[in-house]
Amino acid sequence: MGSRSRYRALEVRDHLVERWEGRELAIDAADNAGAAAADVVVLATPWDAASATAMSVADKLKGKVVLCMCNALAKVGHEFQPLVPPRGSVAASVQAAVPRSLVAAAMHHVPAKELGTISEPVESDVLVCSDHPKATEVVCDIVTKMPNLRALDAGELSNAAPIEAFAAVLLQLNVRYRTRAAVKFTGIDP
Ligand SMILES: NC(=O)c1ccc[n+]([C@@H]2O[C@H](COP(=O)([O-])OP(=O)(O)OC[C@H]3O[C@@H](n4cnc5c(N)ncnc54)[C@H](OP(=O)(O)O)[C@@H]3O)[C@@H](O)[C@H]2O)c1
Repeated sequence: MGSRSRYRALEVRDHLVERWEGRELAIDAADNAGAAAADVVVLATPWDAASATAMSVADKLKGKVVLCMCNALAKVGHEFQPLVPPRGSVAASVQAAVPRSLVAAAMHHVPAKELGTISEPVESDVLVCSDHPKATEVVCDIVTKMPNLRALDAGELSNAAPIEAFAAVLLQLNVRYRTRAAVKFTGIDP
């Protein structure tokens, strides 16, 4: 959900349908108000626009699960560095901005490019945290539907801070080893 106009959203929708030709895709285009009308809403803006974007459609988000995947990062020279947003994490800031919504933090470590290549599954664990068990459950169900992604309940929203910050480490590894690293945990039974 971004600031894009409906026209720009239509362009993006057409591009995705063309790119994923031959699949039955229920993708529609909308502005933020339209996107916020969905049953589950994904917030994927730059970190410093997340709370304001959610607040702008707060009424529509009331009672809904809002999946926040924003990471607060800065690139300083060749280094990726985590930032500390208000309340410690982007997700906690968003939860405070839309207190009547059920915010869950997830998907921070899944590379968007690989996720968009839907013919090839992405191999990764996805840490999910929220103060609302229903939000954790709904987001885990969505993640589990994606081949090779494993959803892990990482507790309450206070854990969004280290989860978001760790994205800086992953990006640094990507640069250092010229790769697209993902996260997998050992020792947890399927
Ligand atoms: N890329 C990844 O691999 C990845 C993986 C996990 C998590 N994330 C996180 O997901 C978030 C989005 O990442 P991205 O790579 O998709 O970033 P992006 O391309 O910079 O932005 C995505 C969206 O944010 C909107 N946007 C930009 N500036 C805005 C503003 N000031 N106010 C409201 N909306 C704004 C854009 O809308 P318009 O096009 O209409 O401007 C676009 O829809 C980031 O917080 C990132 O840390 C990214």
